[in-house]
Amino acid sequence: MVKEDVLKYLENNKGKLISGGELSKILNVSRTAIWKSINSLKEEGYNIESIANEGYKLDIECDMLSENIIKSNLKTKLLGNKFEIFKTIDSTSSYLKRQSQNKAEEGLIILSENQTNGRGRMSRSFFSPSNTSIYMSILLRPNMLITDINIITIVSAVSVLTAIENVVKIKPQIKWVNDILYNNRKLCGILTEAAIESESGYVDYIVTGIGVNINISETDFPEEIKHKAISIHQITNKYCDRNKLIAEIINNFEQNYFDLIYHNKKNEILDVYRKNLTMIGEKIRVIQGEQNYIAKAVGIDDNAELIIETEDGKIKIINSGEISIREL
Ligand code: BTN
Repeated sequence: MVKEDVLKYLENNKGKLISGGELSKILNVSRTAIWKSINSLKEEGYNIESIANEGYKLDIECDMLSENIIKSNLKTKLLGNKFEIFKTIDSTSSYLKRQSQNKAEEGLIILSENQTNGRGRMSRSFFSPSNTSIYMSILLRPNMLITDINIITIVSAVSVLTAIENVVKIKPQIKWVNDILYNNRKLCGILTEAAIESESGYVDYIVTGIGVNINISETDFPEEIKHKAISIHQITNKYCDRNKLIAEIINNFEQNYFDLIYHNKKNEILDVYRKNLTMIGEKIRVIQGEQNYIAKAVGIDDNAELIIETEDGKIKIINSGEISIREL
């Protein structure tokens, strides 16, 4: 397709001017076909400058999600072998769950520029404005008992954390179970959902949904989350290349996932998780439905459950299911 080829060329030469004539020679199509493709890309939102008698240039900061750029930064064997990128969708995770029931293969990744029904843990919604963040869901089919699924949650938190550290050069923290925080404000939320094969208790599929706030300004957040949420742009004051960060998250995810499944490195992954965990040793509020109580966060056991000490000195293990914690 001419349009895809034009886009690929411009993306690989971001910020450089190329004449219509040159493009038509390189891609072996007519100048009219080039012109039509450029117009259609502009309509889709690509920031392409047309300079009369000189040519076309894709803005260096143009940050549309791009399969081409993501793939060229991927080092994976499984994750991202197949991609689907949407302009809009209800929820990347809801869509991927539907695909999983239709036998989609492990490694399929869904991305979207926005979500009309972004979902968080415990039936909350996830703020999902257009063109400014990452909404990504990854399909896994590990040969694992559903009771071991917590460790996949840990894999995703550690993978996103490391990717942000590497690409953005900041040091966020993990809040149990898998929120990524910066200055105690939420930078990323992760939702792990699974289906079980009922007879065996083994996992049929896991859909890991990752939402990272990237180029959102403080005034863009709704009033009710403005003081609880934060974006990468707010932290660095710089535009962040979403495509590169997406590729890095996927690369880390596969590395950790393979380390877990094939190389028996659960303990190493848990160590990274523990080192980056906030609130340990502190008093927290444990919230379960209508009930909530104060406890001290003691640590994380080998099943990634939170160990707490209640005010009457009892040690309790809590699982992420329907429980969340908050600072006092
Ligand atoms: C949470 O903070 O409670 C989890 C938020 C998870 C949001 C991501 S965005 C991509 C995927 N699609 C969704 O609808 N939710 C997850």
